Amino acid sequence: MPAVVVIGGQWGDEGKGRVVDFHSQYCSVIARYSAGNNAGHTIINEHGKFALHLVPAGIFRPDKACIIGNGVVIDPAKLLEEIDMLTSRGVSTARLMISLHAHVIMPWHPIIDRAEEALKGDLAIGTTGTGTGPAFHDKVARIGIRIADLVGDNFGWQLQKTLEYKNHVLTSLYGLEPMEYEPIFQQYRDYAERLRPFVADTITYAQEADARGEMILLEGAQGVLLDLDTGTYPYVTSSVPASVAAGGAIGIGLGPTAISRVVGVYKSYQTRVGNGPMPTEITSGDDMEMLREGLGGAAGTAEYGVTTGRARRVGWFDSVLAKYTARSNGVTSVALTRLDSLSAFESIKICVAYEIGDQRVTTLPPSLVDTSKAKPIFEELPGWQEDVTHVRHLGDLPIAARQYVRRIQELMGVPIDMISVGPERHQAIVTRDIFGASIQT
Ligand code: GDP
Ligand code: IMO
Ligand code: MG
Repeated sequence: MPAVVVIGGQWGDEGKGRVVDFHSQYCSVIARYSAGNNAGHTIINEHGKFALHLVPAGIFRPDKACIIGNGVVIDPAKLLEEIDMLTSRGVSTARLMISLHAHVIMPWHPIIDRAEEALKGDLAIGTTGTGTGPAFHDKVARIGIRIADLVGDNFGWQLQKTLEYKNHVLTSLYGLEPMEYEPIFQQYRDYAERLRPFVADTITYAQEADARGEMILLEGAQGVLLDLDTGTYPYVTSSVPASVAAGGAIGIGLGPTAISRVVGVYKSYQTRVGNGPMPTEITSGDDMEMLREGLGGAAGTAEYGVTTGRARRVGWFDSVLAKYTARSNGVTSVALTRLDSLSAFESIKICVAYEIGDQRVTTLPPSLVDTSKAKPIFEELPGWQEDVTHVRHLGDLPIAARQYVRRIQELMGVPIDMISVGPERHQAIVTRDIFGASIQT
């Protein structure tokens, strides 16, 4: 039976948390399969407003199993904070499981994250500084510490040996002070005791759930354009497995044939945090202000990062990139978010191609990293200039809004099955459920 992956189709923050919160009603298991607490997923439902960095957005449904899969890197302090926060607000974490194979963010990782950025100077990526990148680096370098190690009998020895290596790196490469063993050991032993009840063989759990025919929802983090292989390298994140749809199977321990559908979440425009190219970016003026502050749309949803609080860069919807990410991920349906945030505009632009030299290009150009070479060609559509946050049926959207959605669908070549018109669980027009079944006419 099918597993479904929900991915971000742009540069992250498309509204994946909100989409997963809605669609988790149709699934038995909800799992995060990659990244770390560099991700920040906002959910607003009957329990209130939440920013989740590690716990899957299915946690609000008490009858569902939630897994932090083997592909995730876990900062134990951040995870425990999140569990405490949920518990204190009346959300049960009793059905949360943490993979034995997930890697652990150690105290040197955020330090190295910042030191690397400083060392890179003009080559800096603009990371979240959470230590996520260096933890994945250690995973690939085969010097990482996993949850199985953290809760195992040999943790003290492993920490000692790893720290000897890391202190060499900290002092010789970055010119930093060495770290002391004992305080780290004590602190991480405490974390281990608190996390132990959640630790499980999640690979077997997922495989058995799949064999029983249970519906599994795989919650992506980041966005495809931040992917190490197919994104705007080097301005990308470093998850292994990547946050792309193909990583979903690896990050939970299933085969690729378990995945039957891929839902791509796309904002009705675009945002990006951190450095790197963004061809349709608006860098000044009223349009930038209106997009960033979400004027005309649902209140309280201005474009500032959930993890770092940084102002997000904003720009018009880029259909060249959207088509590319839909194709490279086998997207079967699109969830288009924040349509309400465009309500104040008299007219709205969509990028339909790039001009590079004297050529018109409609595929991802290799030179995208050099934005000056890719000049967007825009199509301008009329705006609707009325509030849409209350709309729940396609037919009730203003005609101009329907035309805008239809044009994006045409350009991407993928059906749009969910249109989100506000940040709350039910502020959406949903025509098909996550498994493709029609749920509204
Ligand atoms: P994620 O990382 O993909 O889960 O997205 P984030 O939570 O980082 O960012 C999405 C932001 O948009 C959050 O502030 C959400 O509350 C908000 N949001 C999601 N869907 C909608 C929508 O349809 N309309 C508006 N106005 N805000 C939305
Ligand atoms: P969600 O899941 C937006 C960006 C960072 C930076 C780059 C590398 O909320 O969509 P990293 O700390 O990962 O080494 O930083 O990737 N980035 C995100 N941007 N949303 C995210 O996650 C992101 N996770 C990483 O801003 O540009
Ligand atoms: Mg986010």
